[in-house]
Parts: sequence; structure tokens; C-alpha cells
Amino acid sequence: MTIVDPTTTTAWATLTGLKTAYTPDLRAAFAGDPERAARFTRTCADLYVDLSKNLVDDHILEALVALADEVGLGDRRDAMLSGERINVTENRSVLHTALRRPAGDSLVVDGTDVMPEVHEVLDKIYAFADKVRDGEWVGVTGKPIETVVNIGIGGSDLGPVMVYEALKPYVHERIQCRFISNIDPTDSGEKLSDLDPETTLFIVASKTFTTLETLTNARMARDWLWRRLIEQGAIEDTEEARKGAVAKHFVAVSTALDKVADFGIDPANAFGFWDWVGGRYSVDSAVGTVVCVAIGKENFADFLGGFHAVDEHFATAPWAQNVPALMGLLNVWYVNFFKAASHAVLPYAQYLHRFAAYLQQLTMESNGKGVRADGEPVTTETGEVFWGEPGTNGQHAFYQLIHQGTQLIPCDFIAMANTAYPTKDGDADVHELLLANFFAQTKALAFGKTAHEVRAEGVAEELVSAKVFEGNRPTTSIMAPALTPSVVGQLIALYEHITFTQGVVWGIDSFDQWGVELGKQLAMQIAPAISKDDAALAQQDASTRGLIAYYRSQRS
Ligand code: F6P
Repeated sequence: MTIVDPTTTTAWATLTGLKTAYTPDLRAAFAGDPERAARFTRTCADLYVDLSKNLVDDHILEALVALADEVGLGDRRDAMLSGERINVTENRSVLHTALRRPAGDSLVVDGTDVMPEVHEVLDKIYAFADKVRDGEWVGVTGKPIETVVNIGIGGSDLGPVMVYEALKPYVHERIQCRFISNIDPTDSGEKLSDLDPETTLFIVASKTFTTLETLTNARMARDWLWRRLIEQGAIEDTEEARKGAVAKHFVAVSTALDKVADFGIDPANAFGFWDWVGGRYSVDSAVGTVVCVAIGKENFADFLGGFHAVDEHFATAPWAQNVPALMGLLNVWYVNFFKAASHAVLPYAQYLHRFAAYLQQLTMESNGKGVRADGEPVTTETGEVFWGEPGTNGQHAFYQLIHQGTQLIPCDFIAMANTAYPTKDGDADVHELLLANFFAQTKALAFGKTAHEVRAEGVAEELVSAKVFEGNRPTTSIMAPALTPSVVGQLIALYEHITFTQGVVWGIDSFDQWGVELGKQLAMQIAPAISKDDAALAQQDASTRGLIAYYRSQRS
């Protein structure tokens, strides 16, 4: 793969010149151009995306589009969509987009059409979800399932949790879902303590089926199930009864079906996927089984349809109209030309309260890299920190820094036109109060408040500077009709392709994650040193020895 160093392109030189000459003044930009809001607003499937409050003008946008062309974004996108092995360090295709293509499509990769298998697994998941929802799938004592516990971590957890929370109004009334991820025993302890094992079904989700946290939690859950069923007199304390309980109360999601069988789960109760689905891109694969059980197959199909609509847009819209590409290029503009180190994503939708956590893995595990896909060091800053919380809560916590701090923090604001809970407070529509805040914040960030305006309010002179808002803080506003399964799929696909666009400009492989390995290896080496193996302890560095000594002195 030939990597184009973005800093050697003509567009980069143009952008450098434009940045030097550019003095952000959004007040003047809007005052001087009544068409600005309309000209900088785009649509992508159901998403209405207002880019007009970004620190750009037409020349900057043109140069960013030229940058996309010069680094070969189109070729890289097409290579991804057609199944070329663009994940070079793992020698894998990157085909999460295949997971949401409609039945009947064909996508031949290495001589095999992957689409029939994608839909075969999907049909198996749909049949399973129907059975659980209809009460046909019962536990060992014949009771229908009331709680589904997904055990997974990283991509096998964050996507499912986020989507389950986002689509709460669509969840089956008899079924609740819980999520165990952390190896901290308090996580499983809290999630399991009040459950009835007779009505609980576990989904063990792990792409590799080797992940320490997930396998440990799965074994603990299996022990909990056996212990509690035996205590309740639901099963005998025999090997056969235990096996029977696992068959009724455990299913698995993995690319390693042999390891699933080793754990004791019948492969008939396992849902597969493929090495060309990255963990953080997998909520639309069998990893979404928990979501499918919760919301049902029709809604899950709409969810996948939302992804696909954005994929089609990304695949076909010219860059100047292409929302994910433009948002990715704007992120590059801020990271590389304004030295922005972070990016906030602020949903004015409480149901999206796990969206930022989900995006942190998607963006930061993908683009937090200092080496390019060809092994050479990157030539620019990469991988800004993504973070956020729902509005309006964040307004009462960290917005101070976004409005008046010394760092430039580009923000994406997300809101829905309709709520699942239309509510009045007297005459006031409460959802409109939420939206008033959504509209107000981007306005305040863009246009600020001058010293002159502060003084005109009669503020004492010594307080004027503290009450001035500089403005020119960039935001993108994203709106959609409602938080439907399709819109949630659209939002995820939007950010997947934003992440991809940034990775292409920086020349990095956005689909590997070698940076997570060292800590995992060291944890395995250190584990024996903690309480037993003094020889292993002696091999540790002084700081680690000191920390372990403290632990030993304090443990009860
Ligand atoms: O350690 C990082 C990681 O590999 C993520 O990329 C992945 O989503 C997570 O662990 C879980 O992996 P698995 O699904 O194989 O258990």
C-alpha cells in the first residue's frame, strides 16, 4: 500500500497558508453571508448536519476536499468496501459494511461471496431472538427468559450497551438486559446478585474467545448459575444436570467456535462472525445479538438499514457533500492546524448517555497511533481524545472550559426533533426546553459575548473580562427526526467513516490495536507476583515492588 504523506501534498501547503491568513470571526462570516448556514448544511440519510459554525470558509473547505483527493481517500474507501486487506498489520479485510448490506447483494472476497454467510448468521440470530422473546426458549425449569446478561468487553460490550440504552423504548416489556464487562468482581457481583437463575440467559461475546476478563466472568457466571440453581432445588448436583443448565442458559458469540465448544457451549447455540469484523466495528454483527433479543428482528433490521444508508452515502456522495468525509476532514483541520487535542461529542438525548464511551473505543483504538500502515512514523499529530456527556448535564459540569478555557475543543452537538416522552411543565414543552439549550449552546460558542455587550448589561467594570465570551469555538450540529433504530445505526456508521477518513489522511491502519498488548502481557507476568511468587516479585521494577508491598500490607 502506498501511503501519501499528507504534509507533502499541495493541499497541505494551501491549508497551511490559509490557516496563517485566517482570523476566525464567525459573527462576521454569518453577517457577511446570509447563505452561510444553508451553504454549509448537508444531509446524510435522516441526519441533518449543520457545519456552518465550524472555523472554515469556502477556500478552506475546498482545500480539505483537495487533501482527500491527494491522499487517495476514494481509493482507500473503495478498497475497504470491496474487501481488500487494508488492515495490513493483521493482513485482514475490513468489511463491517458487509454486515449491513441487504440480502441478495453479492460481495466476492478472495473468490468467495461473503453475503450468503452474513445473512445465514443473521437469520439464525433472528430465529433465536424470536424464541427468547416469544417465551419459547425456556430455562431448565421451563420458565421464559426475563434477563439477558451479555458478558464481553471492549467492542463486545460498548456497542451493545450503548445501543441497548439508546433504544430503551423499543425493548421487549418482559426482557431486561445487563452487561458484565470488568474483571473487577464487583461488576459481576452487582449485576448478578438479585437475578433469578431460572429466568436468566447469558450471552458470552468475545471475538477471540480468549479475553481474560470475558472468560473469567463467563466462568464465574457459570458457577453462579450452577450454585444458585442447585440451592433453589432447580437442578440436581450432577455433571449431567450442570451441562443441561449451560445448554439452556448460555449462548455465545465469537469468531472462534472451537473455543466456544471447549467452554461447554453447544455450537448450535453459538453465533459466528469473521476476522474481517474489528471488535469496535462489531455491534452490527452477531455481537449485537443481545440488542436483537431486546428490540426484536424488525427493529434490528431497521438498525442495520440505518448503517447501510450512511455507507451508501459515504460510498457515493462527492466529498464536498459527503458528511462523514467532511467531518473527518474538519477533525484533521482542527487537530493538525489548530493543535486541538480533544473533541467533545454532546448528545442532547439522554438515551445516548453511553455514546461517548462507545466512540472512545471506536476513535481512539482506531487512530491513537504513531506509526503508519507502512511502518514509518506518522508525520503529523494523530488521534485526538474523544469525550462527552449528555446535555444538558454537561452544561453544569465542564462546559465552562469549552466556553472560556484556553484550549480549542471542537464539539459535535446531537439532538432529536422528537422525544419518546412528550411532557409538559405547565405550558412549557420539556423537550423544547432541552432543544432550547441545544440551540443556545452552539450559538454561544460560535458568537460569544463582547466586552461591549457585557458592559451594556450594566456589569461592573472589574467583572467585564470574566464575563466576556470570545466565541469562535467550533461546533457541528446533528439533528434527526427521532432516536429510532435506523438513526442509531446511522450515527454509528457516520462516526465509523469519520474515523476512517482521519486514519486515511494520517496514513495509519485504523483497524489494528497493538497498543493494548503490552499491558495484557505484563498483567499475566505480574499476577503470580502479587501474593505468591516472591521470585516473580523480585524481578519487578522498584515502583511495582513497592505497590505490591503496599497491597500485601493492607489486604485483609
Ligand atoms: O484489548 C482490546 C480488544 O482486543 C478490543 O479491540 C476488543 O474489542 C476487546 O479487546 C475484546 O476482544 P474480544 O471480543 O476478542 O473478547
